[in-house]
Amino acid sequence: MPDRYDLPANFRWGAATAAYQIEGAVEEDGRGPSVWDTFCARPGAVRDGHSGAVACDHYHRYAEDIELMRGLGLDGYRFSIAWPRVLPTGRGAVNPAGLAFYDRLVDALLEAGITPLPTLFHWDLPQALEDSGGWLDRDTAHRFADYTAVVTDRLGDRVPAWITLNEPFVHTVYGYALGIHAPGRTLMFESLPAAHHQLLAHGLAATVLHDRGLEVMLANNLTPVEPATGSPADAAAADAYDALHNRLFTDPVLLGRYPDLSALGVPDDLYGAIHSGDTELIHTPGLDALGINFYNPTRVAAPTQPDLPFDLVDIPDVPHTAFGWPVVPEALTRLLLTLRDRYGQALPPLTVTENGCSLTETTTPDQPRIDFLSAHLHALARAVAEGIDVRGYYTWSLLDNFEWAEGLLSQRFGLVHVDFATQKRTPKASYAWYRDVIAAHRGR
Ligand code: BGC
Ligand code: BGC
Repeated sequence: MPDRYDLPANFRWGAATAAYQIEGAVEEDGRGPSVWDTFCARPGAVRDGHSGAVACDHYHRYAEDIELMRGLGLDGYRFSIAWPRVLPTGRGAVNPAGLAFYDRLVDALLEAGITPLPTLFHWDLPQALEDSGGWLDRDTAHRFADYTAVVTDRLGDRVPAWITLNEPFVHTVYGYALGIHAPGRTLMFESLPAAHHQLLAHGLAATVLHDRGLEVMLANNLTPVEPATGSPADAAAADAYDALHNRLFTDPVLLGRYPDLSALGVPDDLYGAIHSGDTELIHTPGLDALGINFYNPTRVAAPTQPDLPFDLVDIPDVPHTAFGWPVVPEALTRLLLTLRDRYGQALPPLTVTENGCSLTETTTPDQPRIDFLSAHLHALARAVAEGIDVRGYYTWSLLDNFEWAEGLLSQRFGLVHVDFATQKRTPKASYAWYRDVIAAHRGR
């Protein structure tokens, strides 16, 4: 008997990927370089010196991948559009061949009965824009709005809902504060103008989308934050971390104001980045649904070193994924209930736009992934039973893929195994399980 979850009849089942993680073909058909091409070439930046140059070769194999999606019975497929394929230098002349790829992809998805859910930016900024400051430069927000217009002019007739940005938190912190991801800057809190410019880009693009009658989503990486102990110092550290990870990227969009970041020692105007009128530009267009990427809760303690106002500590006594991330499914229920408490009427409908578990190559069959996904779907159903409006679930990921700084082999998130030497796709046990879950939901 397949697992059943108490979710609404019209609940949408999906899977997610991102351009640089699956497409490959980085030098084909006029694509310009992205910050990830540059970053991967930096010695030591990515495990085993891997890159997304070939990845899953999805650029050529998308038809086969859509057959895999059809086999699952997906309602929706979340993918991202590579800005440097469409505009090789990020601005100016459009590359027709790049746009044509997404045109073919969208048509093939629709033909398979699958609704495309594109993300306009999943971290692969055109290198030419990085060269003029990247997300530290306010102008990048305007270039993003222009790019949004180009893409939606082509695909907006067939694609109803759009995600502007993927996880501006992770992009800012990993890419600009810590240097673990492209573009590899190590600015610590002085990276925060990149957060504001991404939010501004979201707001400007949201206006472009709404002007065309399209729905707007944002996919945030959200984590319930828990203090390590009941001490006031741990509670203060947890609040500071919550403001940085969660509120910074959600409050301006839903409430039209930035959270108090004074505990981080950050100036109110984010080092001069916030100009008057910006919060209105971010907030006024509104959000039709909030996308939630959920992987794990975060436990926080008072700092032991002077340079950060918090310490991130492990959650012991629970399973951990190959990444070392704690598996705490009930934290998803807690997260969803907290969002309602925090935002009330300002909270739009929700969709889980990513949730999944990395295992190593040798974990077969992938029962831990099935257990992970099943427990999280139960946790989601509990929040729905409490009255939270969750419309869909997109698992991360359809395919094993290029896991950023971890390269191709160490963190396998896919329902489908990919042999990167031969490009052979092999559905895992979790693929059959997910297919049966979707079928059981439809058949009830
Ligand atoms: C988060 C993930 C995120 C990762 C960055 C983790 O702590 O939970 O969602 O992708 O950090 O690699
Ligand atoms: C990102 C994905 C990534 C996944 C696992 C999210 O932070 O959006 O691109 O592969 O988590 O790390």
